[in-house]
Amino acid sequence: MKAFRPAILALGILAAFPAFAQVNVTVDAGKPGATINKNVYGQFAEHLGTGIYEGMWVGPESKIPNTKGWRNDVVKALKELHVPLVRWPGGCFADEYHWRDGIGARNKRPVKVNTNWGGVPESNAVGTHEFFDLVEMLGADAYVNGNLGTGTPQEMAEWIEYMTSEGDSSLAQLRAKNGHPKPFKVDYFAVGNETWGCGGNMRPEYYADLYKHYTTFMKAPKERLPKFIASGGHDDDTTWTDVLSREAARGTDAISFHYYTLPTGVWERKGAAVGFPESEWFSTMASTLRMDDHIKRNVAVLDKNDPQKKIGFYVDEWGTWYDVEAGTNPGFLFQRNTIRDAVVAALNFNIFHQYADRVRMTNIAQMVNVLQAMIITDKDRMLLTPTYYAFQMYVPFQDATSLPVALSNNATYAVNGRGVPGISASAARGKDGKTYVALVNTNPHDATDVVLNVAGRSVNGVRGQVLTADAMDAHNTFERKDAVKPAPFSAAAAGGKLTIKVPAKSVMVVAVEG
Ligand code: AHR
Repeated sequence: MKAFRPAILALGILAAFPAFAQVNVTVDAGKPGATINKNVYGQFAEHLGTGIYEGMWVGPESKIPNTKGWRNDVVKALKELHVPLVRWPGGCFADEYHWRDGIGARNKRPVKVNTNWGGVPESNAVGTHEFFDLVEMLGADAYVNGNLGTGTPQEMAEWIEYMTSEGDSSLAQLRAKNGHPKPFKVDYFAVGNETWGCGGNMRPEYYADLYKHYTTFMKAPKERLPKFIASGGHDDDTTWTDVLSREAARGTDAISFHYYTLPTGVWERKGAAVGFPESEWFSTMASTLRMDDHIKRNVAVLDKNDPQKKIGFYVDEWGTWYDVEAGTNPGFLFQRNTIRDAVVAALNFNIFHQYADRVRMTNIAQMVNVLQAMIITDKDRMLLTPTYYAFQMYVPFQDATSLPVALSNNATYAVNGRGVPGISASAARGKDGKTYVALVNTNPHDATDVVLNVAGRSVNGVRGQVLTADAMDAHNTFERKDAVKPAPFSAAAAGGKLTIKVPAKSVMVVAVEG
């Protein structure tokens, strides 16, 4: 299923693949691969800007309709995405978060300063109990990120005990007094975040020792023991994966990894979220496709150190990161979300599916109002972004069985002598038994004809949805909430051949018929 090799093509190769050619996509339904873990479609909610406060949590006394403080409109929209898991409370925030600040009567909780994100007051209104209310309402797994940076092994161990123990333990009784007699179900627990940066500026060897030190004391009843995640590397650095998979493999479910897509590749001037030139549409495509190489290189390291594939590779932060919207708090990381973001999301899904045996979780950053969000709110108003719709269209891929896809005669989308593959494709057998195919067109100008074959069977047609727009930066606003949304799509075979016209800058997910 390797649709992209290599992600960026040199000009000499471009001439061999004219943009107008028909692209052949062949799905081999007879050779099922690994299951695409539903957690590949995981979300990330950090105490950052209006990502949690206002965006999701308004408190039980709010006039905005809510359940236990969580906005009904937002929760309903997220449920339609079948959100499989939520990572909380950070991010960088996690390494300054002390869990005891977030339990007990809300009006007695200490107010802290969110030093990472805008220096604003952190009321601690959302704490452990509120987080579990949210995941329970969503029917999602819980991924709690522990504080290694400013916490202690004792504090971390006691948080685990508070959440998972029962009976006479004082911490279990405290949890009961705070309204939850039954233990919480902590599915995943990470020891620190970005320990190479905001989590403590450590060396991988030092962190590996700390990780073993802390996890030694993380005890929970066997049936409620979370899966532990070691905080790994980023971008094109494989050192963290190498050191951790050699030094800290025991009892570790996965090593995490972060990679953000910046149009310019420069943190000081990342590029605008809207009103950008075509050169930045192109560079965003090229930059996001580097995810393939990053995963491939890390997976090669894991295959060497962990040939039995016990350790997962969790991309627990990914997505676009643009210059912050003018006039907003720079620490809130608010950016608008366009059709470009939907195409980026789908390209990444197609890459993640290729590595389904190792990439068993990813978390887009972030769920609401922050970076590449699903949902944008403004007081009581809410809109769904193009990224939301990409996630919704790909729901059939959750827990589906990946199927190999071969592309030949792929088109190339080229700008200024550099090119990226025009079409990205992925396929899977859904839990409903249907064969699903996802097609993404990176070219913002031209539609591309794809001839679809499913090896070993005849295909009468396809039916599903397509998401596209006229402008490269088309997006939904509170005035035009439906400017970018999926439309039904179908195509029928003619003369034994099924040709699908994939519109410019589009994401398409179809089920195969016949
Ligand atoms: O998602 C925003 C920030 O990006 C996270 O807090 C941090 O882990 C990463 O650097």
